[in-house]
Amino acid sequence: MKEAFSVLCLVLLVSVSEAAVTKPPLGTFLSCLRSWPSPENPITDDIITADNTTTFLSSYLSYTKNKRFTSPNYQTLMAIVKAKHGSDIQATVVCAKSNGIQIRIRSGGHDYEGLSYISSVPFVILDMFNLRSITVNVPSKKAWVQAGATLGELYTKISDASNTLAFPAGVCSTVGAGGHISGGGYGNLMRIYGLTVDNVVDALLVDVNGKLLNRDTMGEDLFWAIRGGGGSFGAILSWKINLVDVPKILTVFRVNKTLEQGGTDVLYKWQLVSSKLPDGLFIRAMPKVANGTKSGERTIAVVFYAQFLGRANELVSIMNQRLPELGLKRQDCLEMSWLNTTLFWEDLPVGTPTSVLLDRPSKPEKFFKSKSDYVKKPIPKEGIEKLWNVMLKFNNNIVYIEWNPYGGVMDKIPATATPFPHRKGNLFNVQYYTAWFDANATKSSLNMMKELYEVAEPYVSSNPREAFLNYRDIDIGSNPSGETNVDEAEVYGSKYFLGNLKRLMEVKAKYDPENFFKNEQSIPPARVKQ
Ligand SMILES: Cc1cc2nc3c(=O)[nH]c(=O)nc-3n(C[C@H](O)[C@H](O)[C@H](O)COP(=O)(O)OP(=O)(O)OC[C@H]3O[C@@H](n4cnc5c(N)ncnc54)[C@H](O)[C@@H]3O)c2cc1C
Ligand SMILES: *[C@@H]1O[C@H](CO)[C@@H](O)[C@H](O)[C@H]1NC(C)=O
Ligand SMILES: *[C@@H]1O[C@H](CO)[C@@H](O)[C@H](O)[C@H]1NC(C)=O
Ligand SMILES: *[C@@H]1O[C@H](CO)[C@@H](O)[C@H](O)[C@H]1NC(C)=O
Ligand SMILES: *[C@@H]1O[C@H](CO)[C@@H](O)[C@H](O)[C@H]1NC(C)=O
Ligand SMILES: *[C@@H]1O[C@H](CO)[C@@H](O)[C@H](O)[C@H]1NC(C)=O
Repeated sequence: MKEAFSVLCLVLLVSVSEAAVTKPPLGTFLSCLRSWPSPENPITDDIITADNTTTFLSSYLSYTKNKRFTSPNYQTLMAIVKAKHGSDIQATVVCAKSNGIQIRIRSGGHDYEGLSYISSVPFVILDMFNLRSITVNVPSKKAWVQAGATLGELYTKISDASNTLAFPAGVCSTVGAGGHISGGGYGNLMRIYGLTVDNVVDALLVDVNGKLLNRDTMGEDLFWAIRGGGGSFGAILSWKINLVDVPKILTVFRVNKTLEQGGTDVLYKWQLVSSKLPDGLFIRAMPKVANGTKSGERTIAVVFYAQFLGRANELVSIMNQRLPELGLKRQDCLEMSWLNTTLFWEDLPVGTPTSVLLDRPSKPEKFFKSKSDYVKKPIPKEGIEKLWNVMLKFNNNIVYIEWNPYGGVMDKIPATATPFPHRKGNLFNVQYYTAWFDANATKSSLNMMKELYEVAEPYVSSNPREAFLNYRDIDIGSNPSGETNVDEAEVYGSKYFLGNLKRLMEVKAKYDPENFFKNEQSIPPARVKQ
């Protein structure tokens, strides 16, 4: 077992034995929930405890995305509350707090380290998936989206209402609006329209006292913190977002160059130009392990995925001027609606019905692990080749590194505008990713990720080595489930938030001074000045 992992297990064991002694009574929590005054919306049917033997495990698993966390911790998971109304959220917060029970809020359940549904102290999962309404207002170019809606549902609703409006958010259709936007989500419209949080104009939040607040009633400092600071400040019921203009027809392409075809050179050149291209052009580079031409041989294919807010002929001419090494041809390009581009980005074949965007998961399909980095200077070719060596050294078939170009408006929005600090000066963001299907491969997969991260170290941001909150990585620093050490929080917090951490901790001290909303990587309240 990997070191960090066994430390985590140790912490788990210690806390579980403590919990066995101090586990709060479930009965008082449940009767508190049931006596919550909301006669029109009784909560009773929405509470699942371990007594509900048939539904408990399936409820736990239905929004558990990562197979690494398939087994619920029966020692600590007391109940799952499937909220259907704002009043269910209020009741859960108030009753958990008064009974000394932690809550973990889960919207889409895509948290990379499972922090929305695991804890080693007694806790309940506040499951938001039933809260999924979306209302689009075309004339004002605004929408309200509830936390449990998925990105696929949001994209579908927007496109049903208008074929020239869109929302700049992530690529996977099952990601939940609650966690995605809380973590400062990004997608392929980032270079022209910024992040999700740059396009949030209001929110409904249940605070630590169970009060339902909007932007006016919560105040600007709390509204600032929830736009990228993670789930440390309360439970988001819904977001009001700004919709952005897109043409009726966009152009995309996906082409690749293997190492044998000069992939490393093209990728090197991509680093020099990708953040300086027109704002409406986003080209992701994705080196991945692929089969070679001979049977049994493996290589790296650098796959380039692009999206352009314009037509194919124009894109080809831009590419031939700025990145001729790729050799893009008109026939590599596909013209389609914005909604159809969201299928393209998920690698679905042309012709796939858009109804797949509404599919929801019912159980985890694979094990995965990610890590992230920021790059400010081009990585020399010998550095890139060291990454290839690590990727090819292990047996994993699903291994890739995603390079996402910055620049455009990301250079213009101040680093303090939202908690998300990684703005001007970044060439691109990196995600290292591997997935596997056999639990026996866990150890070597985690080792590969660790080795990739070590090999990349000389070429990426440092002091601190920056990381992206939505690509949560427990290895960069963490606290035990039930307590938050401020020194340790400064270790991971400075990587995720840089200079914004201090302000986040001050906002936390003001609105959740007893640190009720917490997890292994949450924001602690600022220390009281001596
Ligand atoms: C396949 C895949 C593709 C992805 N693609 C992208 C991408 O393109 N761009 C990008 O930015 N990210 C991407 N991500 C990362 C994703 O944005 C984060 O994992 C995000 O946190 C998921 O949100 P969720 O609601 O699905 O997850 P959850 O696990 O439900 O929540 C994640 C975190 O947010 C907290 N949280 C959730 N709901 C609420 C709420 N209502 N109120 C307060 N706190 C809450 C949770 O407690 C947890 O800490 C991707 C992830 C996956 C698995
Ligand atoms: C779960 O069990 C409790 C009592 O054990 C019962 O009151 C409740 O209706 C059950 N809920 C579901 C969804 O089965
Ligand atoms: C690379 O492109 C070729 C030609 O389009 C395609 O057959 C192959 O599957 C692609 N490889 C990867 C890894 O995407
Ligand atoms: C690569 O080859 C292996 C067998 O060597 C096969 O199992 C796998 O499916 C192939 N992968 C792809 C993407 O074709
Ligand atoms: C979008 O995709 C659907 C399904 O393949 C197809 O019928 C439709 O013509 C496409 N529309 C546009 C504008 O790309
Ligand atoms: C995983 O390892 C165990 C113990 O070594 C073994 O019994 C099992 O068959 C392995 N599983 C697979 C899918 O290889």
